[in-house]
Amino acid sequence: MARIAVVGGDGIGPEVTAQAIKVIRAVLPDVETVDYDLGATRYHRTGEVLPDSVRDELAGFDAILLGAVGDPSVPPGVLERGLLLKMRFDFDQYVNLRPSKLWPGTTGPLGAVKPGEIDFVVVREGTEGLYAGAGGVLHRGTPAEVATEESLNTRHGVERVIRDAFARAQRRERRKVTLVHKTNVLTHAGGLWARTFEAVKADFPDVTTEYQHVDAAAMFMVTAPARYDVVVTDNLFGDILTDIAAAVTGGIGLAASGCINPERRFPSMFEPVHGSAPDIAGKGVADPVAAVLSASLLLDHLGHADAAARVTGAVAAELAARTPGAPLRTADIGDRLAAAAAS
Ligand code: NAD
Ligand code: IPM
Ligand code: MN
Repeated sequence: MARIAVVGGDGIGPEVTAQAIKVIRAVLPDVETVDYDLGATRYHRTGEVLPDSVRDELAGFDAILLGAVGDPSVPPGVLERGLLLKMRFDFDQYVNLRPSKLWPGTTGPLGAVKPGEIDFVVVREGTEGLYAGAGGVLHRGTPAEVATEESLNTRHGVERVIRDAFARAQRRERRKVTLVHKTNVLTHAGGLWARTFEAVKADFPDVTTEYQHVDAAAMFMVTAPARYDVVVTDNLFGDILTDIAAAVTGGIGLAASGCINPERRFPSMFEPVHGSAPDIAGKGVADPVAAVLSASLLLDHLGHADAAARVTGAVAAELAARTPGAPLRTADIGDRLAAAAAS
């Protein structure tokens, strides 16, 4: 029996994870879920963000389902770094997998693109880069203030995520990997990424490759998204590009992700790409599809490929039947998806 830890978190996080759990139960009735109260409310009540004891408990689950963290009442970074990034780092979730697909019935902003034409996956490095480097501030609050933020890139960390991207491409029809970086300016980190990419490529002769600078990739992801199959990139570039990818495939409410520890030494975590959306929190209007598709990635990761396919099938039917611009009710969508996935 699968054991899943549920961290709803902040804002719309608990609203959308509740729907994802409904859907998981519909396809896997004997699943065991345990709710963890983490996020802004706990922080205000106890001052705790992620106590070590809770982290150690989470480590014992088969997977973690996360909603979103971050709240306007908490200084930026406290929850994002202390809870979300801490889990990604402590559980060595170095493959941050973010699939992008234009679903039939979904209208992206790109009129000319037809459903089926956009179907790529971003393999975003999840444990290094600017998210993990040293930094500091000198002369804070004075005209002489200096702030630094270092990007940490190790051969080990870069190679393992690039290998994952190539292996993933090999299992896909088009078998193509695009490396995205900024080697024309970030010569140190970019050099390491480019050299590692070339070295790994030699082990995958049946995979086609290309390189793009991140600024060009941001443009092509809007003007020619059909050209991508697997995109591998560093932590921050991957963060930004996957919001663009979400926008061109029907919006952030549909974009799913998995923070994966491929060796399974630690639980992997599945979460929507979006955040806590304070502007719509508590209104019951958040789209739960991103959370539900993240649940499908979770099911697949735990070896329940049939259950995962039933969930994506239910989502496909739901999106095909949607009227663009019609108001959404979070719980109604969850109920419909659960019923469709169960049958
Ligand atoms: P956001 O993704 O929360 O919201 C951006 C916009 O998208 C908002 O207008 C929001 O209403 C809309 N949106 C997001 N999810 C939606 C959904 N499911 N259905 C309908 N509309 C949706 O990004 P933000 O406003 O930059 O950040 C808000 C907070 O969330 C911040 O504290 C930020 O740090 C945090 N955040 C957390 C995560 C995460 O937990 N993985 C991701 C991104 C941002
Ligand atoms: C995401 C978010 C996080 C990130 C933040 C909240 C730390 O934007 O999951 O995309 O930058 O990775
Ligand atoms: Mn992001």
